[in-house]
Amino acid sequence: MRLSFLTLPALALLAASTAAHAAPDPLAPAGRWTLPERTAARTPPMGWSSWNAFRTEVDEAKVLGAAQTLVDSGLARLGYRYVNVDDGWWLKRRTDDGRLLVRTAIFPSAAVPGGDSSFRPFTDRLHAMGLKAGLYSDIGRNACSQAYDLQSPNLPEGTTAEREVGLYGHVDQDIALFFRDWGFDYLKVDACGINVYAAGAPIVVQNDYRAFPPLIDQASINRTDVPQVRSLYANVAAAIRRYAPDGDAILSLCTWGSADVRRWGKEVGHLWRTSQDITPSWTRMLHNFDSASTRALYAKPGAWNDPDMLFIGHGDFDARHLTEARSHFALWAIINAPLFIGYDLRGAPKSLMDIWSNADIVRVNQDPGGHQGVIAYASDDVQTIVKTLSNGHKAVVLFNRGLAPATMELTAVQMKLAADAPITLRDLWTGKTLPVFTGETRFDLAPRETRIFEVSGTRRLRDGMYLSEVPGDVNVAVDGIIEPEPDPVVHRMMGQWSGTRDTGERPVYAGWGGAQADATPYDQTLQIAGRSFDTGLGVLAGSRLEVRNTRAATRVEALVGVDDSTRNTRDAVEFLIYGDGRLLARSGTRRFGTAATSLSADVRGVKVIELVTRADRRTSDLPIITTWGEAALRGGAPR
Ligand code: GLA
Repeated sequence: MRLSFLTLPALALLAASTAAHAAPDPLAPAGRWTLPERTAARTPPMGWSSWNAFRTEVDEAKVLGAAQTLVDSGLARLGYRYVNVDDGWWLKRRTDDGRLLVRTAIFPSAAVPGGDSSFRPFTDRLHAMGLKAGLYSDIGRNACSQAYDLQSPNLPEGTTAEREVGLYGHVDQDIALFFRDWGFDYLKVDACGINVYAAGAPIVVQNDYRAFPPLIDQASINRTDVPQVRSLYANVAAAIRRYAPDGDAILSLCTWGSADVRRWGKEVGHLWRTSQDITPSWTRMLHNFDSASTRALYAKPGAWNDPDMLFIGHGDFDARHLTEARSHFALWAIINAPLFIGYDLRGAPKSLMDIWSNADIVRVNQDPGGHQGVIAYASDDVQTIVKTLSNGHKAVVLFNRGLAPATMELTAVQMKLAADAPITLRDLWTGKTLPVFTGETRFDLAPRETRIFEVSGTRRLRDGMYLSEVPGDVNVAVDGIIEPEPDPVVHRMMGQWSGTRDTGERPVYAGWGGAQADATPYDQTLQIAGRSFDTGLGVLAGSRLEVRNTRAATRVEALVGVDDSTRNTRDAVEFLIYGDGRLLARSGTRRFGTAATSLSADVRGVKVIELVTRADRRTSDLPIITTWGEAALRGGAPR
């Protein structure tokens, strides 16, 4: 094509119109649930992992010992089925054909005469026990242990190339090996290889690694190549679909909450770490919990926020700190966190076994609805979290985060139950049913104590569900965030590795401004023109939510408007409801200060409802905060 006759402005126009043509409108209704329909991890994955128990000093006897205990103790029957080998299993990558070799000195069953190796006998053994097998890799060329566990006896050996045990450049080959040849069911893919191996870094120079220009800067989302990180992981997911075509394989993304994974993890993997590594310290547990607890709308069957593995049995959560250990467990359970035991199960005391094997609490975590618990009350001292169960009940956690005793009121309103009807609580630690009450009740909590209950009562919304009660049925397809910002609502703990030598922990996990249940995207009370709402969805303008009509509701309704906490008070928005791609209702122009308006639509027979908030003629990039107050599905199947 000859362009010489075009003037510069004409060229710019041409470019703009081609771009406009090429990019589909992200707010156009999809007419369907766009997340992959997954058969694996319909409930949060459960099992055991070697990392918190043994770091790289893992071996076959330790893993099989854990596996045997899972079976013998009944934990496997409760759902703890995945037995995951974390970092430390590899010897080297054979350079003539690129094949990975297992360190057979610690996994003797993997030895194959002639110097080859295969994990097949090991996974056969686990499968014969009724268990599933998980393995670990890295998205770059080198793994985390090769940077952080330099004293380990189990680091990959050999030349620079032989020590490149990560997936980079070998995705197809390694995934075929792990899933098709070795029979694994689960893969955790870490990200140190694209994070800490920069040219000139002491670790690279001293250990003669090949440098990898970092794609992730954990301290700066702006310096992180989010699309590239996502696409590397998406390639792994695609390879897993090729080599484990039955759809039963699980992919765990381990970018430690960086690279905006808290937004896109659901589209690529079955679980994604929302924070850096947990340690057996109370304040670290708070940090990890907070990184996932505000993300209820991002988790759903087949896709889970992962605040990291359980550290019960160690440090602040050991058998001398059962209050803390129980809190850790109840908290992970109510936010649908994956439950991976990280303890040497061959010698676990009964007091710890009793925690992992609390069938009622496991049932809360494994409820088939997949609705992550939503924060109903929050302060730095105490929190109340409420989760919708599929049997029509609620699960509730009252959590004392601090070192002072606390008295907490639990109200019917917080549980979205009628305030004038009897409410029954069953204590899931003792199994005891408490005296019936109406309206509210109160509890005294010891320092760091968590109470967890199953609750039955009369629903406040008798013929429907508030959308914030069923986050597992909502997909935040487009969240309206223009530039990702770090989330400040995460407990800042004292440096575990640096002490107080540096300036302290800064907010680092992108996702601030994402859609929230029962709060605005920036964690304020939902409020339109002075009217506040104790339930609803808070979302930025420029967003599209997909809602699965799993209960065959007949109406969707909400009170919509620009939220009083909006940062952009000038620009207008419009709220639209679609049913299976058809426009059903629109609000007309709404602005900051205009009263909430009622928006509703008949959704009989509709499978996927879409809630869209548009701001097509913005004059600035400042976020417009909007509220779908009291958003609810009415009618439909009884609950
Ligand atoms: C990273 C991960 C951990 C663990 C180690 C292994 O730190 O976040 O969960 O897998 O690497 O080296």
